[in-house]
Amino acid sequence: MCGIFGYVGKRTDAGVIAIEGLKNLEYRGYDSWGIACKNGSELHVKKDIGPIGEIDSQEFTAPCSLSIAHTRWATHGGVTQRNAHPHLSEDRNIAVVHNGIVENYLELRKDLKAKGHTFQSETDTEVIPHLIEEELKKTGDFAEAVRAACLHFEGRYAILALHTQSNMLVAARTGSPLIVGVEKGSGYFIASDIPAFMKHTRTVQYLDDGEMVATDGKSITFSDIKTGETRPKREIPITYHIEQAQKGDFEHFMLKEIMDQKDSVARAVNQDEGEIRTIAEAIRRAKGTFLVGCGTAAKACMAAEYFFSVVAEHHVNFAHASEFKLFHHFLKPESLVIVVSQSGETADVLEAIRVARDKGAKVLAIVNVEGSTIDREADYTLLINAGPERAVASTKALTGQLAVLLLIAYALAERLKEGKTLLLETAAAINDMLNPRFVERLETLAEKIHEEENLFIIGKGWNYPMALESAIKIQEVSYVHAEGFAAGELKHGPIALIEKGSPCIVLTGNDEVLLDILSNAQELKARGAMIIGIGPKRHDVFDEWIKAPEASTAQAIMNIIPIQVLAYFLAVKRGKNPDMPRNLAKSVTVK
Ligand code: G6P
Repeated sequence: MCGIFGYVGKRTDAGVIAIEGLKNLEYRGYDSWGIACKNGSELHVKKDIGPIGEIDSQEFTAPCSLSIAHTRWATHGGVTQRNAHPHLSEDRNIAVVHNGIVENYLELRKDLKAKGHTFQSETDTEVIPHLIEEELKKTGDFAEAVRAACLHFEGRYAILALHTQSNMLVAARTGSPLIVGVEKGSGYFIASDIPAFMKHTRTVQYLDDGEMVATDGKSITFSDIKTGETRPKREIPITYHIEQAQKGDFEHFMLKEIMDQKDSVARAVNQDEGEIRTIAEAIRRAKGTFLVGCGTAAKACMAAEYFFSVVAEHHVNFAHASEFKLFHHFLKPESLVIVVSQSGETADVLEAIRVARDKGAKVLAIVNVEGSTIDREADYTLLINAGPERAVASTKALTGQLAVLLLIAYALAERLKEGKTLLLETAAAINDMLNPRFVERLETLAEKIHEEENLFIIGKGWNYPMALESAIKIQEVSYVHAEGFAAGELKHGPIALIEKGSPCIVLTGNDEVLLDILSNAQELKARGAMIIGIGPKRHDVFDEWIKAPEASTAQAIMNIIPIQVLAYFLAVKRGKNPDMPRNLAKSVTVK
């Protein structure tokens, strides 16, 4: 979702740095972009719709030490150049970029118009620089003006404001993430995510909700938005390497991250055994355990319902984070809410945490991004250690989440060692499976079916959420209409969609539901479907078979990987960029 970048300090290439920073935020998903650089006492502003692409950085080489930039994912106001950020104050001395929503912007706009302010865009954002300008007239102190303006805003947001006269950057957050990069003796970066400035520094400071930060490039002050009290802030080193956040020899992040699963699953499994046992004990004692997530992480939660049932005979409840508040009646101080999130920033998940907190329930987070808001807000965090995931379509984070959840289920069943051995064997088998022949086989299959308009995927047990996940993966990157179903539900509706030649993917395992799903596959075949089996064994009903090695209770982890590769090639064969699916964002920081 919207990406924010800013720099102030001794460097004189702040324009070029901002463009580079934006390119490193592209993965979050956006539809327009913009930049403002202070050249002399003037602001040079450029905005456009569509990809940043090969923008001519010559345009930004004029000496500049203060810049802000933005990638916009439209909420209020269409995708137009005018609506792109930064937005400026009436006197053009203040520029603002923003992530989130100012819910009361219509009211604020009306008041500002009455005071003579004019507006160029349809956005909620544009009221921010105008309101700061009004507040600045009162005190002449830019940081104080931003703080006073923030007290008028309703909703969850992150803003970054630049002021040409005081040469300052001021940022504030009440929801969406903001991170400061500290370049010792040189200056400060402020961005939505670390990759934006990682090339320049490996030291960060996180803004918490309700905090703001002001810097002139020489010093920095964190404070509370409401009270104005200053707050001490720790400097934290970044633990991963820049290469991990880059594509390397791969054409797309998505394929790179699929391939990363050769070792990311093993990293997820290598958790401290004492910690896993403590978590299992907390689940055993909890009066109600809830698994909550969005998108792909939600599919991991759904699969975990089966893991906990089959492996540990323990009941847990799943809810999409966006639906969770409707179940608040069942939360007690003794309940446990397990939130699963790659980014650790998803707005609906953060809201679910608030719902849990209101009822006094404890929160365990299973996240990938260390230092993310969810990591910091939870009572307890388990990191899946997948390394940076930049493609919008989540791949290695999912298998890491599944591995950790299955490990916990084994610990709950007091069979932790057995679970760990199984998962490490699975990780080794994934390493073997992701060989060039396997990838080529899926590319050939993609070539065969890439012009199909519809694709159906069925699964049973933990393969059912994987069928749902398969559908998302295929839809989001290739735009093929894909749908996942619980195999047994076919005859209650979906089978009406099957025509001669309809490709249907059947996810299988060597498990107690194998015969059921094979007979569902027969029902599809009898209506003309082309059956593509994925699983450890070839069965007669399959027209095509992609082998996913035998993995017992970890079969869901194994089966989803060929689908990820297939989705990738379906996108490429259809001429789509799998790293930048239309309308989607990597980190969904608005509700
Ligand atoms: C977005 C992403 C998905 C992701 C979902 C949840 O929709 O495009 O890939 O699964 O958000 O994100 P989270 O970071 O909470 O796992």
